[in-house]
Amino acid sequence: MMRNLLNRKEYLILGRRWISKLTVAKDEKSSIRPHIPVMANEVIDFMKPEHKSVFVDMTFGAGGHTERLLQSASDVKIYALDRDPVAYEYAKNMAKKYPGQVIPLLGRFSELPALLKEQKVLPNSIDGFLFDFGCSSMQFDIRERGFSISKDGPLDMRMDGFRCPNQPTAADVLERASEYELARIFKVYGEEQQAKKIAHAIIDARYSFKRLKTTGELARLVESVLDDGFRIDKLGKFAHSATKVFQALRIFVNNELNEINYAILIAEKYLKMSGRIITISFHSLEDTIIKRHISGNITDNMANRSPMRFQNYGKVFENDEIEIITEVPWKMLHKHVLLPSLDEIENNPRSRSAKFRAIARIR
Ligand SMILES: C[S@@+](CC[C@H](N)C(=O)[O-])C[C@H]1O[C@@H](n2cnc3c(N)ncnc32)[C@H](O)[C@@H]1O
Repeated sequence: MMRNLLNRKEYLILGRRWISKLTVAKDEKSSIRPHIPVMANEVIDFMKPEHKSVFVDMTFGAGGHTERLLQSASDVKIYALDRDPVAYEYAKNMAKKYPGQVIPLLGRFSELPALLKEQKVLPNSIDGFLFDFGCSSMQFDIRERGFSISKDGPLDMRMDGFRCPNQPTAADVLERASEYELARIFKVYGEEQQAKKIAHAIIDARYSFKRLKTTGELARLVESVLDDGFRIDKLGKFAHSATKVFQALRIFVNNELNEINYAILIAEKYLKMSGRIITISFHSLEDTIIKRHISGNITDNMANRSPMRFQNYGKVFENDEIEIITEVPWKMLHKHVLLPSLDEIENNPRSRSAKFRAIARIR
């Protein structure tokens, strides 16, 4: 019989089980790293850790990137943020190994200003922010978290887990959203061409049988209504036909795109001049937000702020005024987006769709 959503205790038991796999390992080779950090060499190359650098790892996960940063220079300090209570347990564990150097923070990007305030961290004081977007392997691998198509579990998908009991789960969205809303979610966040057809089938299912409760039930329903039994993704790999629907629900449930947009604004405020932001994104929706920030097409409630400032038709703008209006606080630290090497993709297939960007604050 399918398990219900996890409660606080169960989350922590699962988290600890994963952590013990890490800590009982006798040496680095035999240790099971539940999540292999993506493009970690590039992170070090562009973050350039130095003695006493201070970083915020915005997506701590299992701490792979954090640990590489700690090992790359002496006395590096890292504020280790994650919204996931299991990742927070990891961070607390790593803080024991690196006392005073890892400061675990439990919360979302949007909660960071309050968390930094508690730590008495001031604006303009951080050397670098790291973002490795998306889900961690342990979120995907623990079936009870409900992220995985291949592992049947309750349709949960909340990265925050028990932390925010009132936050709707994926099952709640499927039960409460209208057909139009569901189609919009699948189209916008999943870029799913057959969004309307799938939304229609979900509404039909509501009337004809019961609440969709498990990842397996949703995957089978989507499969049954689509003409293409399986799909080939952009990278030529086999993909389940429900992959885009799962991505869409996850992004929606966790409000991921608004979180990313806001996070870049927060990072700008807390970075020192010349401080860096590194982003590793896994689909175009994430990467587009980053590109908009880099180019000045900021998305906080507006697609592009610059034209709004030109709306005064009577005014003739001087060149330096135009420069101020269009200026962005960022400089790209490389010419084109960076991709993982073939070797890395072979060793860690999860890295295959990664896009890496590094920028520095110049204003
Ligand atoms: C891909 S994993 C990071 C893996 C990590 N770099 C490592 O090496 O183990 C992404 C992590 O970001 C967290 N995350 C995603 N969105 C977040 C948000 N808005 N606020 C805080 N954490 C977030 C997820 O819970 C997840 O643990």
